[in-house]
Amino acid sequence: MSVIGCGYLGAVHAAAMASIGHDVIGIDVDAEKIATLASGTAPFFEPQLSELLVDGLASGRLSFSSRMADAAGAHVHFLAVGTPQVPGGHAADLRYVDQAFDALLPHLRAGDVIAGKSTVPVGTAARLTTRLVGTGATLVWNPEFLREGWAVHDTLTPDRLVVGAEADAAGEQAVTVLREAYGAAVESGTPFLVTDLATAELVKGAANAFLATKISFINAMAEIAEAAGADVALLADALGHDTRIGRRYLGAGIGFGGGCLPKDIRAFAARAEELGRGEAVGFLREVDAINLRRRDRAVQIVVDALGGLVFGRRIAVLGAAFKPFSDDIRDSPALDVAVRLRGLGADVVVTDPAAIDNAAAAHPQLGYARDRDDALREADAVVIVTEWDEYRRDLSPERAGGLVRGRIIVDGRNCLDAAAWRAAGWQYHGMGRR
Ligand code: UGA
Repeated sequence: MSVIGCGYLGAVHAAAMASIGHDVIGIDVDAEKIATLASGTAPFFEPQLSELLVDGLASGRLSFSSRMADAAGAHVHFLAVGTPQVPGGHAADLRYVDQAFDALLPHLRAGDVIAGKSTVPVGTAARLTTRLVGTGATLVWNPEFLREGWAVHDTLTPDRLVVGAEADAAGEQAVTVLREAYGAAVESGTPFLVTDLATAELVKGAANAFLATKISFINAMAEIAEAAGADVALLADALGHDTRIGRRYLGAGIGFGGGCLPKDIRAFAARAEELGRGEAVGFLREVDAINLRRRDRAVQIVVDALGGLVFGRRIAVLGAAFKPFSDDIRDSPALDVAVRLRGLGADVVVTDPAAIDNAAAAHPQLGYARDRDDALREADAVVIVTEWDEYRRDLSPERAGGLVRGRIIVDGRNCLDAAAWRAAGWQYHGMGRR
């Protein structure tokens, strides 16, 4: 197998496929990233990835290269390059998909299978298929649903596998190849859904749109709860007991971020516009707007708690990553809140167990402390914006109280025991909570 593109998706996929017995070569144009991976080091924070890399390299089944020619000889080629938002627009930028696909073409042999994993606008696979004429290779679409922080787990034990293919003999053959490639997962009963190309592409966009909508739904309820004097966390618990609704992704707080949900809902809406069906997903604009409003709201809560002015006040910001178990700061609501408070003149000190280096490179204007207690020392207010265990579970209100100057805590993720913090003399503020 080859895996083309070794970012979050590709690096994990390559290492996971090697761990289940395949011979895998990971290819990326970034020679530095390839050197890091080839030394058995994960280029980003992802639990279990380093172990898989080390084992795969030692077994001889896993290798990395920055030369596309080294993909020649592989029978299955997974396309896992990034599809960021176009600069200045909402659509997906497909240049890396196109470049990788074109670079692979001369190395294909008859019978090869290309499995697209990147998140792409519906119609991309059909467009790419036309370029395969004369190669004897077949393109299928096999979207990936892994979550950062759980990437190895999600790749090895997915909820479902989706493969889109054309309904001809070559398509059927390619689906069989993929079914075999996923071996153990399929044998253990993981649902394996075969669709046409367009449906497979849509499944991915629709899944992320649904998750984003669910989060924004509860955050919209948080806005109502704030106005009505209700508690959104209790509301979510009560809603979640309805098995048709479910409690997951009903975590109200400062909203979603990261390299996927925000850009994917925008790209989904942009593609719907192109298809003349923009109206059908007009609600995704609201989903985006509700999400961004929560960041404003968190900042406002801090400002109000400090008496209307944060200028010159010291604020400890616990978290920078867009979620725990990740060092990813792409479109991070946590970092956005820190940046906005700094913009209002606050003396902001950010801490995070994994994302400080990334955050400091992107926002050198913020203060940073590697040690949580150093961040808390002499703070006038504390804001939790990423629910790492270090803050959610391991930080006692008594200990924190001994370090800060002012016992004001803003829980941007509704992840703390409000009663315990209040009992320890803290002024506690949640998001959408009494
Ligand atoms: C998301 C999807 O969950 C994956 O299925 C998908 O494969 C991936 O995007 C992708 O397209 O590559 P990920 O970006 O890793 O995965 O993050 P999530 O765990 O879904 O969290 C996204 C954001 O939503 C985070 O900022 C998180 O803090 C926030 N969130 C999540 C909430 O605000 N409330 C919740 O209840 C849940």
